[in-house]
Amino acid sequence: MDLRSVFPAHVSMAFGNAYLNEENLSVQKELVFALGDTIHAHSKETGNHVRRVADYSRLLGELAGLDQDDVQLVWMVAPLHDLGKIGIPKTILGKTGALTSDEWDVVKTHTTLGHSILKAPNCRVLNRAAVVAWQHHEHWDGSGYPRGLKGEEIDIFGRLVALADVFDALGGRRAYKEPWPRQKILSYLQGQRGRQFEPQLVDILTTHIEAFTEIRRTWPDAA
Ligand SMILES: [Fe+2]
Ligand SMILES: [Fe+2]
Repeated sequence: MDLRSVFPAHVSMAFGNAYLNEENLSVQKELVFALGDTIHAHSKETGNHVRRVADYSRLLGELAGLDQDDVQLVWMVAPLHDLGKIGIPKTILGKTGALTSDEWDVVKTHTTLGHSILKAPNCRVLNRAAVVAWQHHEHWDGSGYPRGLKGEEIDIFGRLVALADVFDALGGRRAYKEPWPRQKILSYLQGQRGRQFEPQLVDILTTHIEAFTEIRRTWPDAA
């Protein structure tokens, strides 16, 4: 079965009446997290990564002055940032050694794939999720992928999730690395200020590092 043909129909159904009522909203949230968990399990990322990325993105958005509607919306769509990885072979995603440049090119397609799975111009929520899937590896200075977008050409949701995603990866354990200590994370983010990430967002995160660390404590990875 090709999951790519099944997910869009189901997700569209669930999101069809976005914000219609509370019950719908809670079903949507559950579905988004379930999909996010599924894809991160497929890509060998474990634990509560998608929950933390959602919470970091929401807090960043709030502190950056987004309106409450957008703050809620970014929290809902952030867990789907890597949905396109369902189209990337497990042999590549689960590879322990370094990727070849051909394999790396395949991995990069998870962005455009996620966008084409999720895009639904008549559904505000899904459409925004599609943008996040497409743009979460773009860099503020234009050196990211897949399109090399620059600065505010990148949707604010893409900029928020990009920082949240990397912040979480740095502070977490991976097959190839231990969690970085706070000081090392902060100096990395400072070094990428205006390069990989929007300067203002790096400033917000570093100023409020305690609140972001608290989110990690709330959603730890299983031991
Ligand atoms: Fe990604
Ligand atoms: Fe991620």
